[in-house]
Amino acid sequence: MNEVEEIKSRLDIAEIIGQYVQLQKSGRTLKAPCPFHAEKTPSFIVSPERQSWHCFGACSTGGDVISFVMKREGIEFPEALRILAEKAGVQLKERHSSPEQEKTRQRLYAANEAAADWYHQLLAGAAGREARDYLQRRGLDGEAIETFQLGFSLDEWHAAQEHLTKVGFNERDLLSAGLLVEGERGAHDRFRGRLTFPIWDIKGRVIGFGARAMDDSQPKYLNTSQTALFDKGGTLYALNLAQEAIRAEARAVVVEGYMDVIAAHQHGFRNVIAQMGTALTDRQVRILKRYTADVVLALDSDQAGTQAMIRGHDVVIEAGGDGEHPVPVVNWRGLITYQEAASVELRIAVLPEGQDPDDVIRDNAESWRALITDAEPVLDYRLDAAAATVDLDNPRGRSELVRAFLPLLGAVTDPVVRAHYLQRLSRLSQTGEEELAAMLTRPQRAAKSPRVPQATGDAREEFTLSLLLQHDSLREDGLKVPETLFWDAQARQILVLWKEHAEVNAVKNALPPELDAYFERLILRRLPISDAEQAAEAFADCLQRLQKERLRAEKQATDFQIADLQEQVGVSGLLDTPEQNVIERDMNIGKELHRHGRSDDGAEAVETSVNGN
Ligand code: UTP
Ligand code: MN
Repeated sequence: MNEVEEIKSRLDIAEIIGQYVQLQKSGRTLKAPCPFHAEKTPSFIVSPERQSWHCFGACSTGGDVISFVMKREGIEFPEALRILAEKAGVQLKERHSSPEQEKTRQRLYAANEAAADWYHQLLAGAAGREARDYLQRRGLDGEAIETFQLGFSLDEWHAAQEHLTKVGFNERDLLSAGLLVEGERGAHDRFRGRLTFPIWDIKGRVIGFGARAMDDSQPKYLNTSQTALFDKGGTLYALNLAQEAIRAEARAVVVEGYMDVIAAHQHGFRNVIAQMGTALTDRQVRILKRYTADVVLALDSDQAGTQAMIRGHDVVIEAGGDGEHPVPVVNWRGLITYQEAASVELRIAVLPEGQDPDDVIRDNAESWRALITDAEPVLDYRLDAAAATVDLDNPRGRSELVRAFLPLLGAVTDPVVRAHYLQRLSRLSQTGEEELAAMLTRPQRAAKSPRVPQATGDAREEFTLSLLLQHDSLREDGLKVPETLFWDAQARQILVLWKEHAEVNAVKNALPPELDAYFERLILRRLPISDAEQAAEAFADCLQRLQKERLRAEKQATDFQIADLQEQVGVSGLLDTPEQNVIERDMNIGKELHRHGRSDDGAEAVETSVNGN
């Protein structure tokens, strides 16, 4: 991943765009009146799944989070990137991370450390009495409080601010560290009247806090926002404390909550860590991989808990069936893929109904041990879970089971493992193994030569650019391509530069340094193409696919528009309105899609999943 991709992977487009426009949830997307042109009916759509935006009104364009900020702020790529890098907590390389910035980081670490100390002291003092009682009621002993440096924040607006200012930190740093927030009447403490849990990086430096309310005020847990130090998706709570035990036991156990981790450690289970209040991210899984190949995920028995930890595999399937622009959290299929690629064994321990690890461990530590030891491999767990939700006496139920499980099995490359689960599935679904195997591989159409990558929009955009950069014969055709055909801001930048500067070296000289790595990848990519004719063919194929994707995005946006209109005026009324053309357009797009054949999308992605590295 280059730093641009890293930045994008850490940001949620809905959150960023939401800072500029009032987004409203509408099914799986969000919508708003388009910020780029005046309109009454919202035609601006943001898709968190695809991490993209699209205006299908007057602008009729869209893109990724970077292109949004560029357009909205009227700034160039490097500047937009710098703004977003800061929000993402990514340090741009070399020239960007000046000694000045390094000093700032050091001050932010120091501020967090000082805050942790102060909260910890408050907990021990008179003001912390109630909090201490609370912790005692929850069974935490003094050692746990020390090990985890638990603390208490006063229920005041400026207590931490005053203290930390007095010991030498300035307001800007305290805001950057996430210890203060900017309110209407200036900066004030973020954490007020809460139990505080310092969050450390792997080196044991405090990078942020979780803070629990002790009454029923909301949210129950308030966490540090994304800062230059605190990177939620790349942090596992207490990994600094757990790493030794994880190595020694050759096993890591992931739970959901801070309190779960503390209870576990207190009872001698020191290989337990927690994700950071969101679904598990791919980066968290990758981090764990460095320590052990045996990772157990302890899941709540209820559906809600399960979904909080891992996005259901439907998310990706709904995103277009092809894993395009995957969200960086792990879904079931993603877990299987990691397991395959990294030889990690992922297992699932399901907790008793209504209990979390904290409850189980305090209730009976032995039963926790057994739960972890007996954790099921993720594929078995998913197969059993799927089988439990359908009626196996009914052919439709068995068909559902097959449809639910095969996509997961599609991510398995090891033939022995595949065969094992095909056999299990065969028995459960009463369907022949060969038939199931055929369903697994079937929709592969005869591969055309040259082969064009078909897995993700990004990959296709990159492939298209590589073609342009490496084959001068495509110049004339390439000049006709509108940059808005590309979704990715990096891809757009390169296309614009390529159009401006006739040849590759000139493009290279004009590059903003942030695009160096991306550009290099495009130039070095080996294309399966030997002559101009093949290049032209591949290029045409790419363009067609990109256009199709664009159409599909528009179609999706139109669907939402129609649903809204129907809600507003009712279907019959709608037909009399000028908006009728929206429906006609939708039908045309539908035909268009049909002509290109929709059915090829989902299945191919199974075969050509692009390896991120
Ligand atoms: P739980 O509500 O299950 O937490 O949320 P818990 O640890 O069992 O809390 P107790 O036992 O009631 O104290 C699990 C985790 O989800 C995140 C926190 O990381 C929490 O530890 N979370 C939960 C939030 O970030 N915000 C919330 O409002 C709630
Ligand atoms: Mn709990």
